[in-house]
Amino acid sequence: MSVAVSPNASGFGAAITGVDLKKPLPEAAQQAIRDAWFAHGVVWFPNQPLEHADLERVTGYFGPFGQDPFVKTMDDHSHIIEVRRQPRERASVFGAAWHSDWSFLPTPPAATLLHAKIVPSTGGDTLFADGAAAYDALDPDMQRKLRSLRAVHSAAGPYAPEGFYANEGEQRSMKILPSADARKRHLHPVVRVHPGTGRPTLFVNRVYTVAIDGLDERESKALLEFLASHTTQERFVYRHVWSKDMLIVWDNRRVQHCATGGYDGQERLMHRTTVAGEVPQAA
Ligand code: SIN
Repeated sequence: MSVAVSPNASGFGAAITGVDLKKPLPEAAQQAIRDAWFAHGVVWFPNQPLEHADLERVTGYFGPFGQDPFVKTMDDHSHIIEVRRQPRERASVFGAAWHSDWSFLPTPPAATLLHAKIVPSTGGDTLFADGAAAYDALDPDMQRKLRSLRAVHSAAGPYAPEGFYANEGEQRSMKILPSADARKRHLHPVVRVHPGTGRPTLFVNRVYTVAIDGLDERESKALLEFLASHTTQERFVYRHVWSKDMLIVWDNRRVQHCATGGYDGQERLMHRTTVAGEVPQAA
């Protein structure tokens, strides 16, 4: 067994083959996978028909389980969320706006793993944007300005009792748990340094970043809009097309993602875990 890494031409995103994730991996193989994940931000493993216990073990290669608020986990697997959409479902696609998972937490998750159980024949791709490349592409004056700023993150928009999911009106097969806790606000640096690579990366997103600390509302909105549009330009985005049994792991410290629809009338089911992260450090 040897870990084979095939990066995209951009260097952002890589396929990993040569491993059978149903079997426990030796430490050297785990390290090679973590190295590829650090280098490429998003890694995927085709043809891995994992059971729940396999997914839980593979999650452990990246670190301890993260905390998953506001979405009910599986009854008998408290770290696995089913990201499910039924053929007749009319509720919006879960996660279909640019975000970094749970960035409103004091210690947002380092990684998210998503394993494809049921994949529609068309649609349901996931988009990933590279916050490190987006930062590198900014001019030095803008980089300097952003490095001095902190942003306010909150889950209120989607998960508060008055938020989107509580009031969408359509039946959803996933169980969302709206809560007043979602109104909590937390400050993180606008540019964080990746703890594994030392690279600075933009750490603001459309769903959970609600303001830039210390700027007036107009300036704050304008800057957030600029950063959201800048980061999600095509040149920084990788579109991932799924196949059944594929596992993907992304690094929430560097990467934002966005689910897409286009598969009404078909079922889609993914199993998702997260890996605990650290307090984001300013670059
Ligand atoms: C998510 O945001 O975790 C869901 C991504 C997807 O279903 O493609």
